Formats: sequence, structure tokens, C-alpha cells
Amino acid sequence: MTQTSILYFLFFHLTIIISQPCHRFLTHAAGGRWQFLQRSIGISAMHMQLLNNDRVVIFDRTDFGKSNISLPAGKCRNDPNEAVLKVDCTAHSVEYDVLSNTFRPLMVQTDVWCSSGAVMPDGSLIQTGGFNDGERRIRIFKPCGTANGCDWVEVENGLAARRWYATNHILPDGRQIVIGGRRQFNYEFHPKNRAPNLYSLPFLAQTNDRGVENNLYPFVFLIGDGNLFIFSNNRAILFDYSNNKVVKTYPTMPGGDPRCYPSTGSAVLLPLKNIQASSVEAEVLVCGGAPKGSYVQAGKGTFVGALDTCGRIKITDPNPKWVMETMPQARVMGDMTLLPNGNVLIVNGGAAGTAGWEFGRNPVLNPVLYRPDNKLGSRFELQNPTTIPRMYHSTAVLLRDGRVLVGGSNPHIYYNFTGVIFPTELSLEAFSPAYLDPENSSLRPKIVLPASQAKLKYKQKLVVRFKVAGSVAIDKVSVTMVAPSFTTHSFSMNQRLAVLGSEKVTSLGKNTYAVQVTTPGSGNLAPLGYYLLFVVHKDIPSEGIWVNLQASSFVEGCACIGGVLRNSKGDVMCSFSAFCGNLDAISAKIWAIHKACSLCLYNPAFMGLSNSYADSLAKKGLALDGELVEWFEFKV
Ligand SMILES: *[C@@H]1O[C@H](CO)[C@@H](O)[C@H](O)[C@H]1NC(C)=O
Ligand SMILES: *[C@@H]1O[C@H](CO)[C@@H](O)[C@H](O)[C@H]1NC(C)=O
Ligand SMILES: *[C@@H]1O[C@H](CO)[C@@H](O)[C@H](O)[C@H]1NC(C)=O
Repeated sequence: MTQTSILYFLFFHLTIIISQPCHRFLTHAAGGRWQFLQRSIGISAMHMQLLNNDRVVIFDRTDFGKSNISLPAGKCRNDPNEAVLKVDCTAHSVEYDVLSNTFRPLMVQTDVWCSSGAVMPDGSLIQTGGFNDGERRIRIFKPCGTANGCDWVEVENGLAARRWYATNHILPDGRQIVIGGRRQFNYEFHPKNRAPNLYSLPFLAQTNDRGVENNLYPFVFLIGDGNLFIFSNNRAILFDYSNNKVVKTYPTMPGGDPRCYPSTGSAVLLPLKNIQASSVEAEVLVCGGAPKGSYVQAGKGTFVGALDTCGRIKITDPNPKWVMETMPQARVMGDMTLLPNGNVLIVNGGAAGTAGWEFGRNPVLNPVLYRPDNKLGSRFELQNPTTIPRMYHSTAVLLRDGRVLVGGSNPHIYYNFTGVIFPTELSLEAFSPAYLDPENSSLRPKIVLPASQAKLKYKQKLVVRFKVAGSVAIDKVSVTMVAPSFTTHSFSMNQRLAVLGSEKVTSLGKNTYAVQVTTPGSGNLAPLGYYLLFVVHKDIPSEGIWVNLQASSFVEGCACIGGVLRNSKGDVMCSFSAFCGNLDAISAKIWAIHKACSLCLYNPAFMGLSNSYADSLAKKGLALDGELVEWFEFKV
């Protein structure tokens, strides 16, 4: 069961780049602007993840017929277990290149429908589960340049349980936790460090409405004390995942209406501020959803009006209470996207019905901006509408340039383009909040230093140099860090924003300034990995740069390792206690153990930290091969 074959590194040389640049501006000025990017990317953007090469990995499902884009290099998928097409020569995943507004087909081998994922510290997307033959798969997508034509690599039975409608979250040590899924009241870790890697979570059973569920795709957030906030249905717990213990139970949200799938609302962890404080306050905002009973009603053809309320709760308070707010419009299946300036964009969805086939009605075309720092009662601002309904299976993700990429919508069992009320949407649009309005360009910062892809440590003093063409209000400058999220079914997993603030702003002359900040102090506030870093001036963000937050001791060239290697039956093949040293010493040690065990201890695809070890081994001419049998633990 623990056998995890990772030898399938298929480097397809893909040359098909399809380009249909088309920029149609629909609206103008304050209230934001919509931009039509692609009429068709060939698939419906049901799941989206931005990677650190400014490309978005997008996929829908394999079991609803032919898509509108062929598989790369004339390939076909031949799968006797497939539900609809046993032989399918069309793609169900694409890579969208933001900078060139082009896309290319990718190949998933099994069904990724209603799955989940998260990006590992090395920038690889790990996608988990799906339906049918894909329910226990782990799929890896490692970002690459155009020439390498990287594609999905699949690991059979990588998961301990079937995961369909689960939620993932990245953990401080770079692993990810996979929580729930249909009829799964439990969680597991990837990579696993212990068999059988399955832990029960009764809260998911307690919040499961019989025959309706309302507990799927739970809203999960890691907070500063290292615990996970888990919201399901209409209530939440604070959960210590290492000890399988509920630390705190939050009150039920006033009204008691469900907010999770299929009564799909959405949620965000509001910006984390004062992150150098000993205890960092965390607030969660949950918006929209469907009143109790709506799903059953929708099945009978009655589409109940969606919820127009949001609940906001300070989860770190000793006595936390929900504070309710009313949105300008009711919304079910909305997406909540954190913008670089700390505001929240609420977009997509409908004003009646629920998630599920054919169950949504009354598309809500206007996004709404939520300003968390405004006074209660003056936080929402209606934005300019799109013309395209984005109902069930639509998505939204923040891009590095500050726009929000919007796509998807398919409430049908098949690709249906005619004869239905909300035809399957293969298009992509972008929403540009008002901060991107040309009138704001003289106030917009441009980051000069550090360069994109900079490596950062925890609790590091960082000086960000930027330019602003117009006059600068020194007290209105701040730096923020946003984690790119895995978005599906109205929830953005791993979405978080840390306000690094501003300790000192200095003018360097020639419209150039320097702002000093300190990076987050721990992986609880910001897990290892890639973030977008922005300078924000008067609420107007710069274009972001990519930064990679790495474990401090690692960056300094010293790390400790220790672990156990097991075979697929669970027998210990070899074990060794902690060994500390610099990169070279550790590489040598790993190589010695590698030879002793006649097995490869790790694979770079799995651990961000191990990439440099791999490089260092490669320099010595030592190739890596073999099989990863049990996760090899790094302690840094
Ligand atoms: C997708 O393909 C179908 C059938 O070939 C066609 O009718 C439809 O217009 C295409 N849709 C788009 C958006 O290209
Ligand atoms: C949707 O598409 C499927 C598969 O092509 C087809 O069988 C079905 O009739 C379509 N539904 C409608 C309402 O056209
Ligand atoms: C400029 O940006 C600010 C901050 O986001 C926004 O409030 C304002 O509406 C923008 N100006 C225009 C003309 O869109």
C-alpha cells in the first residue's frame, strides 16, 4: 500500500502552443475592468493553480466526453476503466501562460474531477485524488520552461484513502495535509512519514447533513499557533493535527445555514498583520452559501434565494464570536480572492440554488470588493459586471500583475454548448481592480530589488527597493506577501496574505525608495515555499515578484537529517539518527546511506529542500534512481 513509484518522469517535448490573443475591454474606471482573454482554452477551468513561472495549471475532468483541445503530440488516453470514453484523444488539462496569453495541452492519465491540491516548497503542484480511477492518485506537476514541455506525473495509490471533494493545506514543514472528501471523515499527509497515514476526524461526520452533505471542501486555514482552523457546514473547530486533538470548538454561525458544498459559500483567512508579535491575531471571513434545505428544493425544481450574509470571526480570541455582515447581493458558489492590498474580491456564482448539476440560478455578474479595515457597514463595494455567467465549476485566482484570472463554469454532466441555460464555458477573462486603472499609474510602485525568485529566510530583515513616478506618501507604503492558491469549487486552498508592513521608508533619490521589513518568524505564519511579494502604496500594489521562503538553517548551508527507510511491507530497511552538517557533508552522508541501503532515499520531486542536495549529488556525478518507499524526513 505504501509503495510509491516515482520513476515515471516523462518529459514530453510539446511544441503545440495555441495563441488567440484577444483583448476586449468591457468596462472602465473605478469599479474595475473586465478583459476577455481567451474564447476557448479547450477545457473548462474547474481547478486552477498559479505556479512560480507565471503559468496557471488548469484542469477539468476526464469523464464527460471530448474536450475542445487535442492531447499533445497526437497522443490518446486508453483507459478501460474510464466511465465515458475508453479512448480519448482530447486533453483535460492545460497550462496557461499569463505573460504571453497562450496555452498548451497537458495529459492527465486518470480522472481529476473535484480534486484538491497544493504547491510544495520546491514549486511543484501536488494534486490529490479525484473520481473513479483517479480517487487515490497523487499527481505531480513540476513547473518548467516552454522548451522542456513538462507534464503531469501520476503516482498510483499514492493516497491512503479515496479523496473526492477534499481540502489540502500546506504545513510548516513543507508536507501537506489532505482533509476529508466524500464519505471520508479523516485526513492524511503527503508525503507520509508513518504508515498507515490515516487519522480520523469525527468533526466531518458530525457536520455531514444526511443525504445532502454540506461538509465537503471544508474551509481550512493554518494559523500562527500551528493549529488548523477547520470550518465545515455551519461551524468550526481549531484542530491540532499532530496530536489529533480538537483544541477549540467555535460557536455555530448565527442562522445556522450551511456554507460548504453543495450549499457552497466561500471563505478567506483575512490578512495577517503585526506578524512579529508573540501571538498573531487571525480572522476568518465566510461569505454566502445556501439556506438550509436549498439542495433538496433545487432537486425539486425550486431555486431558493442564496444567503446574502458573511460571518467574520477572530479565531484567536479567547471568547470568539461571529460578527455578521450583509453583502450588497446574495451569492452561492462565489469565489473569494485576496488582493495584494489586503482587500477581498468576491466574484462568480449565482443568487439562487446550490452547487451540483443544473442546480444554480440567477448568475451574479458583479464582483464585490470587501475592505476588511473599513468600519462595519461600509466594507462592501459593488464592482463592474462581466457578461459571462460563471456558475458551478468556475474559478478565480490572483495573478502576479494584480489582475484576477476568472474562468470555468459547467453545471452539466457533459460538455454542453447549446440547448442548456448555462452553456459550458471554455473562456478565460481577467478582472482588473481599480488599482490597475491608468489614472493610478503615477502612484504605482515598481519593485527594483530584490529580483524575482529571491530566496528569503524566516525573520529576515529585508530591504525592498522600489520606484514611484509621482509623489510618495511615506506613511502609506507597505509590503505584503501572498501565497498562490489552489482554487476549485469556490474555495482557494492555501490562500493567505501576510502584511510585512513597513519599518522604515527612505528616499534614495531619482524616484527610488527603500522600504525595510522583516519576513515572517515561523512556518505557522507562512509555510515554506513560493510567495508573491508586493509593495503597496496608497492601496495600489506594484506588480509582484516571486520570492521563495526557505528554512533558515538550510539557507545558511547547514541542516540535519535523520530517518527511517521502509519497504512496501513496512519492514525497516535501514535507519539512522540525526546527522547535522553543511550541504556537502549531508550530501555525502546521504550518498553513503543510499549505497548502504541500495535504494534511493528521496526524490527531488517530493521535497523542496532536497533539490539542492540533488544538485550537489549531480555535481559529484552521482545519479539518482530507485524507488522512494517511505518518506525520508529532513529536520532543519
Ligand atoms: C467546442 O466544440 C464543439 C463541438 O466540436 C463546438 O460546437 C463548440 O462551439 C466548441 N466550443 C468552443 C467554445 O470552441
Ligand atoms: C449534453 O451533452 C451530452 C453529450 O454530448 C448529450 O448526450 C446531451 O443530450 C446534452 N444535453 C443537452 C441538454 O443538450
Ligand atoms: C486608484 O486606486 C484606488 C485604490 O485601489 C481606487 O480606490 C481608485 O478607484 C483607483 N482610481 C481609479 C480612477 O480607478
